[in-house]
Amino acid sequence: MTNLADRVMVITGASSGIGAATAVACARAGMHVVLSGRDAARLTTVAGLIRAQGRQAESVPGDVTEPGFSARLLDTAEGRWGGFYAVFANAGYGFKRPLHETSDTELRAIFEVNFFAANTLLCEAARRLLAAGRPGHLLHCSSAVSKFTLPEFAAYSATKAAQNHAARAMNMELRPRGIFVSSVHPVTTRTDFFDRMNEDTGRPREGEKALAHVPGWLLQRPEQVAEAVVRCLRRPRPEVWTSPLTRLMAGLITIFPRGMDMLGRQAPQ
Ligand SMILES: NC(=O)c1ccc[n+]([C@@H]2O[C@H](COP(=O)([O-])OP(=O)(O)OC[C@H]3O[C@@H](n4cnc5c(N)ncnc54)[C@H](OP(=O)(O)O)[C@@H]3O)[C@@H](O)[C@H]2O)c1
Repeated sequence: MTNLADRVMVITGASSGIGAATAVACARAGMHVVLSGRDAARLTTVAGLIRAQGRQAESVPGDVTEPGFSARLLDTAEGRWGGFYAVFANAGYGFKRPLHETSDTELRAIFEVNFFAANTLLCEAARRLLAAGRPGHLLHCSSAVSKFTLPEFAAYSATKAAQNHAARAMNMELRPRGIFVSSVHPVTTRTDFFDRMNEDTGRPREGEKALAHVPGWLLQRPEQVAEAVVRCLRRPRPEVWTSPLTRLMAGLITIFPRGMDMLGRQAPQ
């Protein structure tokens, strides 16, 4: 089991939801944390929660798609603590619209944030760990919908599938050299995600109503995902699933795609 005390975690999308909860859970496990997100005020709040655990925090506000942003994040960890152990590429957003009504610009934009920025960060982190001869753990925040999709979620699911495949291949490439690579597959989680997605795609913010049609067994708190990430840092494994039933469903859907297509046609739009 990996002792996380005094190790350094770098997290994108740490200003809210799963990223903020993971930052706090990592601090509780003894880690120091580099936090990033565009909302500097929210980062300050999360940094305060980390310091309240007696751990250290550095905030790096900015957009993950800015050229050089990954290097700035990792430089911050190296400048303050001499290096980092783990990186969680978690920043991302949802997008809900039929694919034929999605513009190329919208499709490329979601890939820039969810896939390319995450991939750039984790690859840069891998090169630095290898050059320093240090062990490490890199994580993509993918999703349960990396393994199957739903109507209007093609663009989003495609980014999450890309993250999943990148993590699987990287784990095979890097694990023999002391670096674990995992993908995290949350199911529906109570965060700002759905309201932001509604806003971005021209729908009203709905708060709790946005989740009203989601069955209870498919709903979780961001803290549950955060605890699962910390467990994976302690005992590395390729994929982190917070709902075993959804994981089983994903397997069945792979074998029986027609079943998912039938269910998807009946899903509330
Ligand atoms: N909620 C779910 O049901 C669910 C399920 C499966 C997977 N996920 C994944 O979990 C991850 C976190 O989402 P969440 O549910 O915690 O939603 P959230 O509360 O909306 O958090 C998203 C985070 O990403 C950051 N972010 C978004 N675009 C960014 C950009 N261009 N540059 C920098 N930071 C950016 C946001 O920070 P700022 O606004 O401060 O920039 C925020 O901290 C995402 O990758 C999402 O796809 C969520």
